[in-house]
Amino acid sequence: MNPAPQPPKSGAFLTDIQTLRKRAREHIAQGAVTPGYGADREVVVKLLNEALATEIICTLRYKRHYFMAKGIHAEAVAAEFQEHAADEQRHADQIAERITQLGGAPDFSPEGLVTRSHAEYVEGESLVDMIKEDLVAERIAIDSYREIIAYLGDGDITSRRLMEEILATEEEHADDLASLLEDFSEN
Ligand SMILES: [Fe+2]
Ligand SMILES: [Fe+2]
Repeated sequence: MNPAPQPPKSGAFLTDIQTLRKRAREHIAQGAVTPGYGADREVVVKLLNEALATEIICTLRYKRHYFMAKGIHAEAVAAEFQEHAADEQRHADQIAERITQLGGAPDFSPEGLVTRSHAEYVEGESLVDMIKEDLVAERIAIDSYREIIAYLGDGDITSRRLMEEILATEEEHADDLASLLEDFSEN
């Protein structure tokens, strides 16, 4: 005879495994979104689409800066721009992936891209201008991602973790740019 299942001594707040499995089967069609999903999915998809637009704009701006800096023989700075462009492109892909996991559609439409983006596309005249504009854009992204992370809280931990990872990279970008600016002001 099997002993009756005992409720867990610690962590009694956990939904028992059978209930979880039953719910998972009932909602298979919803993919990664389970009934335990605690956030407002529509709002999360909208916020992630804004973050996606921000990443696309940042990719485009860094690409432009990379080719322009290359033209003025600033190889070290150009290399930094190229690296950042690749990071932003990767972020865009990661965010788009998460949007589809949530049953949403990633918005890659060029129409309204600049309006959806938090950061701006500024070309910049000189190398120092470019670095400054990139730093401003990074700081805007950092602030808005922090807000998104605070909003997500415990409601959507996966999206929050993704945005936290991305935020850490944006902080590194801002730091790289600040050092580049210092180098230039010393000369
Ligand atoms: Fe990024
Ligand atoms: Fe960045």
